[in-house]
Amino acid sequence: LFRGEIAFLKGVVAMDGLPPADRAEVCFAGRSNVGKSSLINALTGRRGLARTSNTPGRTQEINYFTLGESHYLVDLPGYGFAKAPLPVVERWQRLLRAYLTGRPSLRRAFVLVDGRHGVKEPDEEIMKELDRAAVTFQVVLTKRDKVKGPAFDKVLEQVRGRLAAHPAAFPGIVVTSSEKGEGIDTLRAVIAGIG
Ligand code: GTP
Ligand code: MG
Repeated sequence: LFRGEIAFLKGVVAMDGLPPADRAEVCFAGRSNVGKSSLINALTGRRGLARTSNTPGRTQEINYFTLGESHYLVDLPGYGFAKAPLPVVERWQRLLRAYLTGRPSLRRAFVLVDGRHGVKEPDEEIMKELDRAAVTFQVVLTKRDKVKGPAFDKVLEQVRGRLAAHPAAFPGIVVTSSEKGEGIDTLRAVIAGIG
């Protein structure tokens, strides 16, 4: 799947701008700056494909990437703190929620959680919304390279505990570092298994 052609399709700012729901899609959700866009670049092996930044609030549209002819990868704006004017942030937050709960071809939402911090309140809110909408989600821990073993074990334990309360959670937490390439093959295989 990842050997086929991968390209940016479009940035979407309203629900009526979404492409036809005619193929499987997976999306990458998570707090601002957690590493969503970086993960897409690591997965596709294309460094500048999705724009990344140190500043939270970099991705402000729903960005569609085609994965061969059968799948879309969808990079989402972050939730939580963002360096952008409030009305603008509120607009993209509404769009984000409408997308996450109202897209029929969304097969799985990857909820990215920072490997240093674990599940935070805004993650809980999003996971509850996904439960209510019956959208299967799977947690991906990011930035594994930034945290030492013992601290990371605690985070893993916290995340496992939180997931137990969510009916829409897919079992299995994927541990990644976009920086070092850890977990990227695993996540590619997971996506390839989603038809
Ligand atoms: P928004 O679009 O603002 O919501 O952020 P995002 O979730 O798309 O994050 P982005 O991919 O832009 O990455 C944010 C920052 O984290 C950048 O400075 C990245 O270089 C850094 N980063 C992302 N993934 C990793 C990782 O695995 N390891 C390390 N060390 N840094 C990472
Ligand atoms: Mg981004």
